[in-house]
Order: sequence, then C-alpha cells, then structure tokens
Amino acid sequence: MLKIGVIGSGGRGGLARHAHGEEKGARIVACCDLSAETLEKNREAYGEDLFTTSDYRELLEQPLDAVFICTPDFLHEEMAVSALEAGKAVYLEKPMAITTAGCDRVLEAAYRTGSKLYVGHNMRHMPFVLKMRELIEAGKIGEVKAVWCRHFVGHGGDYYFKDWHAESRYSNGLLLQKGAHDIDVIHWLAGSYAHRVTGMGDLSVYGSNQNRIEPTNGPRIRGPIIDKEFFWPPSQQEGLNAEIDVEDISHLTMQLQNGAFATYQQCHFTPDYWRNYCVIGDEGRMENFGNGEDGSCIKVWNTRKWGNDAPDEVHMIERPKGGHGGADPRIVAEFLRFVREGGPTYTSPIAARFSVAAGCAATTSMRDGATPQIVSDVPVEWWRYFNEEYQSRRTSGVNSRQTLEGRDTSTNGHTNGHLVR
Ligand SMILES: NC(=O)c1ccc[n+]([C@@H]2O[C@H](COP(=O)([O-])OP(=O)(O)OC[C@H]3O[C@@H](n4cnc5c(N)ncnc54)[C@H](O)[C@@H]3O)[C@@H](O)[C@H]2O)c1
Repeated sequence: MLKIGVIGSGGRGGLARHAHGEEKGARIVACCDLSAETLEKNREAYGEDLFTTSDYRELLEQPLDAVFICTPDFLHEEMAVSALEAGKAVYLEKPMAITTAGCDRVLEAAYRTGSKLYVGHNMRHMPFVLKMRELIEAGKIGEVKAVWCRHFVGHGGDYYFKDWHAESRYSNGLLLQKGAHDIDVIHWLAGSYAHRVTGMGDLSVYGSNQNRIEPTNGPRIRGPIIDKEFFWPPSQQEGLNAEIDVEDISHLTMQLQNGAFATYQQCHFTPDYWRNYCVIGDEGRMENFGNGEDGSCIKVWNTRKWGNDAPDEVHMIERPKGGHGGADPRIVAEFLRFVREGGPTYTSPIAARFSVAAGCAATTSMRDGATPQIVSDVPVEWWRYFNEEYQSRRTSGVNSRQTLEGRDTSTNGHTNGHLVR
C-alpha cells in the first residue's frame, strides 16, 4: 500500500482523493495546509490517524512514497525541489513553476536525485484531446503544420481575479497560469516545442471594476466565490483582488522547433467556457466542438470542399465520468502506476517545462511591445533522461516525421521512465 502525502490539501488538493483506497493500493496518510478547516475536512475524509501540519517540511519528514503538490503556483518550485530532495515521488500540479529558471531547478533536482517527477497536465487525459492526437497519429490530416486554439474562460472573473492568480508576482500571468495546459496540448498535437514566441494582450475589462478586497495577510487564497453564485456580466463582479496586474485577454503566436505554427487566444470575459482547437495538416484539418459535454465531437475535413461543406468524418466524444472531463481519476491512476512501476506516461516533465517556457516568453513579449522572444532549451542529458523512451518509440504518423529537434537520443542508462504515448 503506497503511503501518500498532500501539500495544499484544500482546493485542487481534493484531486488526491483518487489516490485513497484499498482498491487503489494507496492511502492518503499525511496532509499539509495553511487552513485548519481544510485539515479538519481532510481528517474526516482520510481518517482520524491522518498526520496533519501547516508546515510542508514536517510532512516531508514522514515516511511517504509520494506527495501531491497542489499549492498555488508560486510555491511549486520550492516545494517540488524539497520533496524530490527528500526522496519522494512527486505529483506536481501545473504549471511546473512560474519562471523557466524555476522549472529548470525542478528538473535538475529530479535528474540529480533520481526521485520520480510527474507534472499534472490532466488535459493529456481528456478524451477529446486523446482522440485528436489519435487521429493525427493515424495520418488523417497528414503532417501537422498549424494548431490554433481559442480558450473561452467563462468563469474568468469568478476564479482568476479574486485571489493570488491576479497578481503577477504569484502567477506571472494568466497566459502562463491557464495557458500552460493549452500550450502543452498544442505542443503534443504538433509533435514539437515552441522556439520563437510573441504575445499581445491587456487588462481590458476587470481593470475598471473597483469592487475590490484588500488581502489581510499575504496573498489571497481562493477568493470568495460568493455563495457559488457566478456573476454576469463581468462589470457586476464583486470582491475582486485589490491588486490586479495580469491580463484578461491575451494572444500568443509561436513557431515550433519543427517549423509548425501555433496561436493561442485566451479571454476571461466570455459567457461560455470551453476550448476550441483547430489543427491543420498538409492533407486536411480537424476541429473539436465541445470538450466532453453531451454532443461533443471532432470534425475532420480531408477531401476538397467548397464553402462550409459537411466534414468527411465526425467523431463523437463520450461524456466521461469524473472531474475535468474524466481526466482527474485517470491521471491519478497513471501517477500511482508510475510511482510503483515506472514506465510510459502521457505527461512529460520536459513538455511541462516547455509549456511554462513558452508561456513566460509570450508574457515577456506581451509586456514588452510584442517583441519576439526565443525559448531557451534544456541540457541534452535532461532530454535523454526524461524523454529517452518517448523518442525511441516515436515510430508512426506525425511522430516519425517530426522528431523533437532530431536529437541524439541514444541510451545513457539513466532514465526517469517517461514515455509520452
Ligand atoms: N490541472 C488542473 O486542472 C487544475 C485545476 C485547478 C488548479 N490547478 C492547480 O492547482 C494549484 C492550486 O490551485 P487552487 O486553485 O486549488 O489554489 P488555492 O488558492 O485554492 O490553494 C490550494 C491550497 O493550498 C493551500 N496553501 C496555500 N499556501 C500554502 C502553504 N504555504 N502551505 C500549505 N498549503 C498552502 C491553500 O490553503 C489551499 O487549500 C495551482 O497550481 C493550479 O494551477 C490545476
């Protein structure tokens, strides 16, 4: 039975419930949170013998096989490095860190210590994303040349402008904070990582709303979503964070290392909440309509058409069970298997790092007059360590044509066992 700890056991820390139970072969035995109320709830959920603390270093002194780190983004770097150095396998929520240098510290610690690192990019477990990738790998649209993603963040005002997310010192910016998911999916669908990036955006709606709350003690944690009632239109929002210095609309353009192009548009004041991906290859294009709600589908056009003719194929996406379109139970199951046995995983620490690096570069560009930014690379030995199997199994469809940078991926006997399938 794996012994598991949770750091940041309220909010997103609820994900860890999927790692608790006889049938899972794992138990939550320790929780850390600043909130006494949260720890009380954790005891009710996981048992009175649960070890609880408000100091994550005390939790890391416990005999644990693995820890979930589900604290706000600005704490990820410090907590992940400490956990890896304490010899724990780590499930680290996205984004890996709020700077590229921070990600590289985490990767270096995993490489140096040999502790297992897994980053919570749960979109890689969403059925609609998996289906798009499967269709690309089956060659339905040829070689991917462009990925365009529009992200309508309908609850933006409720979730991202009432607490630490709204302050760049804690989140860097929402182009990174929210966008890390989509940048990662764009990279995955295109089979490559960002090379050149530009960004544009602004605080164009929430900046003028002066219904604000001053934090009393440090960053606000989970701003009050009053009575769970969502506010509409955005001008009616109440209780926004006193300081807001992140953008509510942002655009990223990038060219990937394999030459493909990508765009990502994020808006925090739309009435609807979903993501729309359009992937264009040299033999067709596909687009998702819905993210798993009833009627969600992926349409594929790969014969010549006039106007808005019917697609050649429509793939319905089943409504999955579980949080985040069924992705949460699946990603936790994969993490537990990775802790126990190692082996291939859908997620990848190197990919997680590149999603942050692209998001940071775009944010820098956006705040510097849309200047082009080059995304820095990682040492080749990290590529080998984290991606070795990933590279060697890239045998079909998009993967065989678009190797990530054409690197020498020969074995060095040092692998973290990550294979992005
Ligand atoms: N993958 C996903 O779909 C997904 C969804 C939501 C959130 N997240 C990620 O999860 C993380 C947490 O997000 P959230 O919205 O739950 O944040 P949050 O503000 O609710 O904080 C999470 C928990 O951390 C605790 N905490 C804060 N500082 C702490 C400290 N110093 N020591 C111990 N506990 C501390 C808080 O009390 C809270 O219970 C973020 O990195 C976010 O990006 C991921």
